Amino acid sequence: MIDSLLEICYLIASVTFVLGLKLMGNPKTARQGNLVAAGGMTVAIVGTIFAHEHHVSPVIYGLIVLAIAIGTLAGWMTARRVAMTKMPELVSLFNGMGGACAALISLIEYPNMRHSTGALIAVLAGLVIGTVSFSGSIIAFAKLNGTMNKAIRLPKYNVLNTLMMIALFVLAFLMCYDWSFNNSINMYILLAMALLYGVMFVIPIGGADMPVVISLLNSFTGLAAACGGFLYDNKAMLTGGILVGSAGTLLTIVMCKAMNRPLSNVIFGAFGGGSDTAASGAASGGSVKDISISDLAVLMNYSRKVVIVPGYGLAVAQAQHVIHEIELLLESRGVEVKYAIHPVAGRMPGHMNVLLAESSVDYDKLVEMEEINPEFPTTDVVLIVGANDVVNPAAKTDPSSPIYGMPILEVNQAAHVVVNKRSMNAGYAGIDNPLFYDPKTSMLFGDAKTALTGLANELKNL
Ligand code: TAP
Repeated sequence: MIDSLLEICYLIASVTFVLGLKLMGNPKTARQGNLVAAGGMTVAIVGTIFAHEHHVSPVIYGLIVLAIAIGTLAGWMTARRVAMTKMPELVSLFNGMGGACAALISLIEYPNMRHSTGALIAVLAGLVIGTVSFSGSIIAFAKLNGTMNKAIRLPKYNVLNTLMMIALFVLAFLMCYDWSFNNSINMYILLAMALLYGVMFVIPIGGADMPVVISLLNSFTGLAAACGGFLYDNKAMLTGGILVGSAGTLLTIVMCKAMNRPLSNVIFGAFGGGSDTAASGAASGGSVKDISISDLAVLMNYSRKVVIVPGYGLAVAQAQHVIHEIELLLESRGVEVKYAIHPVAGRMPGHMNVLLAESSVDYDKLVEMEEINPEFPTTDVVLIVGANDVVNPAAKTDPSSPIYGMPILEVNQAAHVVVNKRSMNAGYAGIDNPLFYDPKTSMLFGDAKTALTGLANELKNL
């Protein structure tokens, strides 16, 4: 009876995970989706604690409650405090914690499960994948928050990484199929190798290629959790793990497409090449032209069509509300306004969608890159706010550029291009942007919120 109750809890949890994921597919219902899935997870946790047939001593119950309390408090406080722009780092960190949990399960269960080949495969897979995800995510966290802002490349790093991956497979294989290798020492060697591989896998990645790696690490954590689900025959863990694993894999494929990189390059290390040559400082070469706020207001006011390109700087400045105000002002004057959304603009998948949804921008106005690119030749003004790499023409014209091959928003096809940023500094990829020196381009220097508030006021006075 009690066992069926537990199965029902897991079934409810699995259904809510699927439902939650579906709701997260749209910014309007995403919050609800998160709550639905979190509710399901609560049912699964409560069920596991109270509807488990094994006898658990009160001390263990106490420890479980204590662990949950500490985890909830730490998660709640960090998530509440974190600024929206720091969210990707937090997601990376949390993802790493998920990988670490899966690896810890394997470490604990190894002595109990080492005698059955099937279980051992799940234990070792969970250990390796979870550990790689943990150490890789910690490096990704350091890269995203700027602590580690240079790609570190050992000589022949891609050969080294591939050899290390083969060694990991060989040792795990031997442990499963030759019992003389199946011992704790080898398990700890495997753990150490996986930790090192995770670090080596992520440190060489530079340029603008981090999004692909982040989503790949995310799918690793899902797979590692699914291995735990196999071990315990736990349906909720299995479904949750598979959903995270497959959603992460799909996202990786979408990101690879967005960056125009084959997935094999990610796994075998020949990835994000050339960022050593990328200058991290101010851009150089050519002269740039300024535009005043009042001139820009006039230019936009008398346009037929304006396309806004939001980027990471819009999020930093928290200028999403004022850009929406400008959009409404222009529309009230009969100007057609759209937003051009690059798949890797910002610092996390869907960053710009979430940001603009916050200020109630109509979702239909957000146009994906493939659809908006053909519209630039008929656009009067493109206003780029805090975006840089996603509009860098070097991705099309300079084979030595680390972002060469990445599809970009082809803004230079429009009649006028206006770029708002604070300085000539580079974006995430750390490279110069020839767009700023294009005769069609004018720069509006300043913090996005300040500059756009000025622009909104000018527009109101016209
Ligand atoms: P970036 O290329 O990073 O450029 C952002 C620009 O915003 C900077 O050049 C900066 O110039 C400007 N900026 C910063 N604060 C500002 C403020 N307060 N007001 C106005 N401007 C400000 O951004 P992007 O074009 O959105 O491209 C995203 C990059 O991040 C890509 O390289 C992408 O690969 C990478 N990335 C993306 C993700 C995902 S999944 N989206 C994850 C990791 C990495 P100033 O300093 O001169 O102001």
